Amino acid sequence: MTETSTSTEGHKRPSLPMKGVPQPKREEVLGLPRVHISQHPVVADKMTRLRETKTTPAEFYRLVKEIGTLLAYEATASLATEPMEIETPLQAMTGQRLAGGIGVIPILRAGLGLAEAFREVIPEAQIWHLGLRRDEDTLEAQEYYNRLPHKVDLQVCYAVDPMLATGGSAIDAINVLKRVGIPRLSYVGIIAAPYGLLKLSQTHPDIDIYIAALDESLNDRGFILPGLGDAGDRQFGTF
Ligand code: PRP
Repeated sequence: MTETSTSTEGHKRPSLPMKGVPQPKREEVLGLPRVHISQHPVVADKMTRLRETKTTPAEFYRLVKEIGTLLAYEATASLATEPMEIETPLQAMTGQRLAGGIGVIPILRAGLGLAEAFREVIPEAQIWHLGLRRDEDTLEAQEYYNRLPHKVDLQVCYAVDPMLATGGSAIDAINVLKRVGIPRLSYVGIIAAPYGLLKLSQTHPDIDIYIAALDESLNDRGFILPGLGDAGDRQFGTF
């Protein structure tokens, strides 16, 4: 948490960039096109453990990976396949294989756990790192690291980041990926605020959005409520 303004008495005050900003209600964004909110009971169970304050960083990271694995399963359900001739020990048959590569882009640093989860589901996935840091005064995302390849030949890329708050980081990440020329893009996150979900969906209506839970709102500082705190700090123990 960054405290940035100073009162006349010299006390630091936190910035309140979302104070007075109108926000949509949860019910208003439930029916957005191409938005998939997991209904899986195992995800719901793991989300509750994830949110709990007493959950340690080691356990938190493990839960992020487990939830990420389930989200990866849901988000890859519509991937294209192509026929492949193989020999089983008994006879020849036509199997199916993924038609084209998969890219996973963790938005650093909180997206690292989700990228690990995707790698467990699709070990051949290419992992491209994109560093975006949210300025806690303005809530604008600033890019500080970019290791995207120049040549792209993939069927889909997943931008992964546990938290969709104002949506600024996700929107910027998708902008970067669109400039690289990726034909099909999805965003995968763990929790979202209605405000950020609506912004991302309206700015990039051509992408699929997969999340584990839709929360209620953002507080004045731009944190998701009820939320889970800061997913980066809780995964890596930097409090
Ligand atoms: C957090 C989070 C998202 C972003 C969400 O990252 O992981 O990337 O903020 O906020 P937004 O929707 O308002 O843009 P943060 O900048 O704290 O960096 P970190 O991953 O290093 O913790």
